Amino acid sequence: MSSTLREYATFLARAVRQPTRVGAVLPTSRHVATAVTAVVPSFGSPTVLELGPGTGALSGPIQRRLAEGARHLAVEIDPEMVRYLHRSKPWLEVIEGDATHLRELLDAAAVEQVDVVISSIPWTLLPPDRQRTLLREVAAVLVPDGVLTTITYLTTLWRPNTRAFVAALHDTFDEVLPRTAVWRNLPPARIYACRRPKADSVTPRQR
Ligand SMILES: C[S@@+](CC[C@H](N)C(=O)[O-])C[C@H]1O[C@@H](n2cnc3c(N)ncnc32)[C@H](O)[C@@H]1O
Repeated sequence: MSSTLREYATFLARAVRQPTRVGAVLPTSRHVATAVTAVVPSFGSPTVLELGPGTGALSGPIQRRLAEGARHLAVEIDPEMVRYLHRSKPWLEVIEGDATHLRELLDAAAVEQVDVVISSIPWTLLPPDRQRTLLREVAAVLVPDGVLTTITYLTTLWRPNTRAFVAALHDTFDEVLPRTAVWRNLPPARIYACRRPKADSVTPRQR
């Protein structure tokens, strides 16, 4: 089996077993990957964190942008995906766990703060209080001039959970830029780039 087919088969098998956690039937397209990873610095030694790497559709494009000395971590909740990543992308620092406990997971990996977070967690399948908890965790680990980029699907824009998520982005970050839609993805995607976590979105304990 080719590596692409193996990736799709692994992804689909997990999507069937855990539909609400995986939240898609196919890995993200390379068109979305290009758009979502454009915020990754191609020089210096940033720490880049992926949330929900799945089978790693964004991991390769991120890694290709990074210069020597950069650090690339990924937090994935699904043990099968983690095993797949260990085998197929040995250069990726994969942490098995729930991103809701991000601070704890990063402490265990001796990571203080990160420069970039790229999330493809299926936000709009999460209840609004969980969306906010997760966003607060992200805001608390970002450096002050850090950036979060994330993906939503155009097909879910009308859903209350999507509207709740976009409102939570605006409550958590000072700048929220919806980038243009990317049609060459199944389903078509919209990417958000968020900067400057608001001080009042992060509790003093998290700071
Ligand atoms: C839509 S898939 C995206 C996979 C891949 N990044 C891509 O773009 O093709 C969502 C991934 O997020 C993971 N995930 C969902 N909830 C999570 C959580 N709370 N913590 C960490 N990973 C999570 C799922 O297991 C799945 O691998």
